[in-house]
Amino acid sequence: MKPCEIKNGIYWVGAVDWNVRNFHGHTYTTKRGTTYNAYLIMDEKVALVDTVYGPFADELIEKVKDIISPEKIDYVIANHVETDHSGALPAILKLCPRAKVVGTAKCKEGLFRNYYMAMDFQTVKTGDRIKLGKRTLVFIEAPMIHWPDSMFTYCPEEELLMPNDAFGQHLATSQRFDDEVDECALMDEAAKYYANILTPLGPIILKKIEEIQKMSVPIKMIAPSHGIIWRKDPMKIIRAYLSWAGNETKEKIIVIYETMWGATEKMARKIAEGITDAGVEVRLFDIAQSDRTEVIKEALDARGYAIGSSTHDNGMLPSLAGFLEFLKGLRPKNRIGCAFGSFGWAGGAVKDIEDILKETGIAVTQPAIGVQYAPDENDVKRCYEFGREIAGRIKEKGANYAKI
Ligand code: FEO
Repeated sequence: MKPCEIKNGIYWVGAVDWNVRNFHGHTYTTKRGTTYNAYLIMDEKVALVDTVYGPFADELIEKVKDIISPEKIDYVIANHVETDHSGALPAILKLCPRAKVVGTAKCKEGLFRNYYMAMDFQTVKTGDRIKLGKRTLVFIEAPMIHWPDSMFTYCPEEELLMPNDAFGQHLATSQRFDDEVDECALMDEAAKYYANILTPLGPIILKKIEEIQKMSVPIKMIAPSHGIIWRKDPMKIIRAYLSWAGNETKEKIIVIYETMWGATEKMARKIAEGITDAGVEVRLFDIAQSDRTEVIKEALDARGYAIGSSTHDNGMLPSLAGFLEFLKGLRPKNRIGCAFGSFGWAGGAVKDIEDILKETGIAVTQPAIGVQYAPDENDVKRCYEFGREIAGRIKEKGANYAKI
C-alpha cells in the first residue's frame, strides 16, 4: 500500500493490520482488524506524527522512503507511549538519529521505560508550538485520554487535529476517509472503541472537548491513530463522544446471563419477553457464548442491565464473573440494574451480582429474583413481571433515573 496524501503535503504513512483479532492482551476483539496511523508532514522542517506497532516498522519506513529519505525527518511527534504507536520509534530513530522526539513529560518517562534508549527529547505542554515552515504544530496535553502521557497535535494552518487514540476505531480498510466507507460499520466500531476503552474517562473527555472548544481551534479534519480519518463531518464523532461521555442512554435493557442447565436461561428469556412487552428495546446475551467486546458496546446506550447466573460453589458462574469484573472497571454511570438466577440447595449468585452492580455504581432498583432448581409456572410469571418492572422503571423516570 502506498502513502496517502490526506492534505497537500501531509501523508498517511501508517500500516493496516488486517488480521489482528485480539487487541490489548485479549481485552478487545478486533473482528474488522485495525490500522496504526502515522502522518508525515512535509515542510521546511519535516515532522512524523506517531509511528506504528513494532512488527509494522518496515511498512512505515517504506512509505516514508516513497516520499523522502528518513534521515531528513526533523521531528518525531510521540502523541502516546503505548506500543501500538511507539513500537517503530527505535527503528525510525536509527534512520534519523538527529531528529528530536517531541512529547509530554510523562511520554518521555514512558518511552524510556519501554525502550531504554537515548533520544533527543523535547518536552512540550499545552499551547507549545513548533514552526515547521508554512505550518505550525500546536500541542494539547490530554492526560488519561487514555494514558497519562497522551497528547493531541493540532495544525492550525490545515485545521487538522491528530488526537492519537481519541476518535479512533479498530477498522482495517483500504480506504482512509469517512466518506469512502460504510457509515454504519464506522460508527459501530467507533462506539465499540469508546465503550471498551474510554467509558471510565467520560468526565475527562467532556472537559477536554470543552477546553478545545474554548481554544477556538477550527477543525476541518480529525486524523486519529486507528482507523478512518474524519473529513466529511468531523463534528459527527465529537457529537457522538459528547453523548457517550455524557452518559446519554435510551430505553434499552441488556439481559446478560450464564446458565448451567438452562434454568437461568429460561428466566432470562422470560424477563426479556416482559421487557419487550412493556415497549422497551432489549438485547439478550449468554455471556459464555458471546463476544464480550460486542456486549460492552451494546451496554453503551442501554439504560438498564438485568444480570443473571446459576449458583455454582455459592457464587456466580465464571464467564459472568469475568464480564462483571470488566464492567466494574468501566464504571458506566446513570444506569439501573437487577439480578436474577437459579440455584439448587443454596443460593449465592444473585447476592454476588447485586454486590458487584453496586460496586460498579449501577443502582439496583428492584429485589433480585431467585428460583430453586427449574422455574415452575408461577416462577415464569414472576420472571415476566420482573422484566416488566425494570422496563417500567426506565420509562417512568427517563434518562435521569439513576443519576448517582
Ligand atoms: Fe492505540 Fe493507547 O494505544
